[in-house]
Amino acid sequence: MAITRRKALITGASGGMGKACARLLGTTQDLVLTDASPKLAQFAEELQAEGYTVTGVHQGDLGSAALLSAIMADMQQGDLPLTLIHTAGLSPSLAKAEPIMQVNLVATVRLLDAIEPLLRSGSAAVMIASTAGHLMPQIPEAATLMADPLAPDFMANIMALMNGMAQGDAEKLAGISYSLSKQAVLALTQRRAIAWGLLGARISSISPGMILTPMGQKEVQTPGGAAMQNAAPLGRPGVASDIALAAQFLVSAEASFISGCDLLVDGGSMAAFRQGAAKIA
Ligand SMILES: NC(=O)c1ccc[n+]([C@@H]2O[C@H](COP(=O)([O-])OP(=O)(O)OC[C@H]3O[C@@H](n4cnc5c(N)ncnc54)[C@H](O)[C@@H]3O)[C@@H](O)[C@H]2O)c1
Repeated sequence: MAITRRKALITGASGGMGKACARLLGTTQDLVLTDASPKLAQFAEELQAEGYTVTGVHQGDLGSAALLSAIMADMQQGDLPLTLIHTAGLSPSLAKAEPIMQVNLVATVRLLDAIEPLLRSGSAAVMIASTAGHLMPQIPEAATLMADPLAPDFMANIMALMNGMAQGDAEKLAGISYSLSKQAVLALTQRRAIAWGLLGARISSISPGMILTPMGQKEVQTPGGAAMQNAAPLGRPGVASDIALAAQFLVSAEASFISGCDLLVDGGSMAAFRQGAAKIA
């Protein structure tokens, strides 16, 4: 008789961190995978050939309502708690300001809204944020807008605010969008933890430093990315499994009193910046 196991939804599943999370979480949980990349099907096949159980493969834009409802249909599992590791995201070396905000914040809120009806006591989620969110100064006007990214005029308003800050510099604009969107994920995680706690469910975030995934390989070639890597007192870049191992802990029973917090997995970079031992570019 097949044993019923908890299901883990991994977003960004064919990206660097997503793959590492799928391989680690998939040892004890059944996997539901989603990513915009067409490479997802091949990765799911590889996992199945290696003995992993993949119960759902959903290729498409995480912002799509149809995709989300197909994913949630696969995640239904009665009273069993679920796991969510949300790694899908865009960075300034991969996209412009508007899609960055759309994926990193708007799609994240839609994902959490969609999964909430399925939460049971013991469910646990990890959002991948970024050290960029910690480095960005708090801008109260932006924080107010980003608290409601599904408002009809949200994108127009946040783009106007960010354009004012970037003053015509498109590269700067994308960087601001990335940092603000990740700052919003940190705040969102705290807010959801309050609501989820009433259900016995937990949500935390991880802020990676420079991790040499496909995204990280591009970012490290920028002054900001290189500064992040060089700042790490541990003297090495991160690898995707550094993040997967931290995520595995945060969703485990051993972390059952941890919710609403952010874990820096950055080789000590933020400590070095905060103590003045390293400088951001
Ligand atoms: N790599 C780093 O150094 C670093 C540092 C800090 C934070 N992060 C964050 O970590 C997360 C994972 O990044 P990674 O390094 O594994 O990058 P990656 O580019 O290897 O993986 C990201 C995945 O997200 C997917 N994706 C992008 N837009 C999507 C959309 N609209 N719908 C569905 N999927 C979409 C991509 O197809 C890709 O497979 C991201 O949120 C990123 O911002 C990365």
